Amino acid sequence: MTPPTPVPDDVRLRAQELAGEIRRHNELYYKRATPRISDAAYDALVAELALLQERYPQLREETSPTETVGSDLTEGFPSLFHSVPMISLSNTYERAEVEAFHTRLTRLLGHEPHAYVMEPKIDGVAAALRYVGGALDVGLTRGDGRRGDVVTENLRTVSDIPKTVDARRLRVLCGPADFHEMRGEVYMPVAEFQRFNAAREEGGLVAFANPRNATAGTLKTLDTSEVARRPLRFWAYSIAVPGPAALRSHWAVLDALAELGFPVCDRRRRVADLPELFAALDELEAARDGLPFQIDGAVVKLDDTTVWDELGATSKSPRYAIAFKFAPEQAVTVVESIAASVGRTGVVTPVANLRAVELAGTTVARATLHNQDEVDRKDVREGDTVIIEKGGDVIPKVVEVVAARRSKGARPYHLPAECPSCGSALVRREGEVAIRCVNPDCPAQQRGRILHWAARDAMDIEGLGERWVDLFLQQGLLRGIPDLYRLRREPLAQLPGWGEKSADNLVRRVEASRQRPLENQIFALGMRHVGIAAARQLAAHFGSFTALRAAGLEQLEAVEEVGPVVAASVREELDRRTPVLDELQELGLLATTRAPKPVVVPGATPFAGKTIVLTGTLSKLERRAARQRIEAMGGTIAVSVSKKTDLVIAGEQAGSKLDKARELGVEVWDEERFLRALQEAGS
Ligand code: IVH
Repeated sequence: MTPPTPVPDDVRLRAQELAGEIRRHNELYYKRATPRISDAAYDALVAELALLQERYPQLREETSPTETVGSDLTEGFPSLFHSVPMISLSNTYERAEVEAFHTRLTRLLGHEPHAYVMEPKIDGVAAALRYVGGALDVGLTRGDGRRGDVVTENLRTVSDIPKTVDARRLRVLCGPADFHEMRGEVYMPVAEFQRFNAAREEGGLVAFANPRNATAGTLKTLDTSEVARRPLRFWAYSIAVPGPAALRSHWAVLDALAELGFPVCDRRRRVADLPELFAALDELEAARDGLPFQIDGAVVKLDDTTVWDELGATSKSPRYAIAFKFAPEQAVTVVESIAASVGRTGVVTPVANLRAVELAGTTVARATLHNQDEVDRKDVREGDTVIIEKGGDVIPKVVEVVAARRSKGARPYHLPAECPSCGSALVRREGEVAIRCVNPDCPAQQRGRILHWAARDAMDIEGLGERWVDLFLQQGLLRGIPDLYRLRREPLAQLPGWGEKSADNLVRRVEASRQRPLENQIFALGMRHVGIAAARQLAAHFGSFTALRAAGLEQLEAVEEVGPVVAASVREELDRRTPVLDELQELGLLATTRAPKPVVVPGATPFAGKTIVLTGTLSKLERRAARQRIEAMGGTIAVSVSKKTDLVIAGEQAGSKLDKARELGVEVWDEERFLRALQEAGS
């Protein structure tokens, strides 16, 4: 045997450096859920190390990051050994490597594979779910691949995850054993992530960088009730015990999972050969932007599960599958300046003004930098060349600074100590990362409040956007929300770009907004932590704004879905904003009471007098519309299933509420049945 070529010193040094870097990023990504570099940059580090190791096999060590998976094991959580190790997949960005994967399988099998299954590679967090006698017993994270953290109670809050599975079906599909383990990905849909993150920022908490981090952080939250409030979902993709071979084909495994009540991604495709596979990959990549959840590529699996074991695995990844990653949609541009922007709650956010650049079909000129910690972490400076990326957020984010392009004089950026709008000293509350302006009369906050007041879910004053609000503020026509109701036609009509007709229209729309239901008016106040859902609960509970204003903390906490944090925030805002609330009430606003419930004649409609729970996803009707129609026909909507529930309407992917309904013997309708009932009732 020829002795291996000696490793040159600089190569050894570089390998050590790479291993160190990768470990550091593993720690940031898996344990702290705060990655500092993009996935693509991380993959490039791993690929470089793997290349060096290929050339100089002596550099390969068992503990090398190319041989092990990153670990998410966290202190504070008990851990358990996995029933079957949770290894990772080998990644590629190159189609040629997918071809090489096909060639390798053909060689190993002695014939071309008959079929592949392509599934989206969901950008979430892997979870293993153990069922004993059909009941969810334990839920684990991947951990270090051998042991996972026990996060059972947190996973139970995910409505998509079945808490019980029909044991008889399970036996028919998977064999007689009593123990089963299903695996899949926990994730947060993009729209929900955006809402959740915005609320966090508003509350002065650190925003998560993307849905994956939000999911990872949430699963490792110790307070289960907090986890329950966060919009986590689940896609199942494997039966780990009794093992995929029990069903002979992976396609059959996915069908079985779906039949057992697990959500299975409908973007899965079974393909017969490479051309079909590439077409499926193209189709998925084209659809990527419009999907309601984030994916970072596709997973291609050999359909024939009976040979999976035989094909074997490396220490890190099995041979039956490969992950094909899509290139992230990134662009390179320059930070022209960094501005401090003051929102309606007073939170000051650093915003990067960018040299305009095209990214994923839109022109991007701004990116949020979230807060000072984030600016420090990424060390973004004015004049820097940066890589920006569209993550889960609509607003793009700065992924990293191209350090080599930094000019000499660039200085670190610091948010100002005084509010850029009103000049008052900014404060940082204990336990918060956000810095805020606490002057209630701050013009920038007033601007934010006025814009929020006019927004669609709030008072819905069409046409009152940033441009006109800025003009009115500048002209002294507006100082705060109450001034909107004092706007008169003549002065408006004199403004540049305005005429009598447009002035008339605006005054009319402002007047019409007085008729908005109480819940929208409460939401319009823009109190911290009070989204439209909480506003609806408050309106329903108190019936009038006067009653809400008079409520003490305890009464506020008694409202369904209002916890201590929201209650405290409401109380504080009601007190702090007394003058403006008085003024609004004097102007006749916040006076509407919630419409009394219609008189119910039992039996008059299929919903009259009934307590109904909506769960899962309806495909033909928005949830809000369904709710309104039920209420209009005398039904009452409840959020959770109990003995008092008369009917559960279950859409796609209904989870724990449906289970509970079955357990309690509550009548359940699917969407079709519901739509038929609406039609028959003439609604
Ligand atoms: S199959 C042996 N299917 O990607 C591992 N994984 O890099 C089998 N993932 O740890 C995993 N979507 O967290 C599989 N449709 C999918 C997936 C998927 C996302 C994640 C999963 C896994 C990682 C592998």
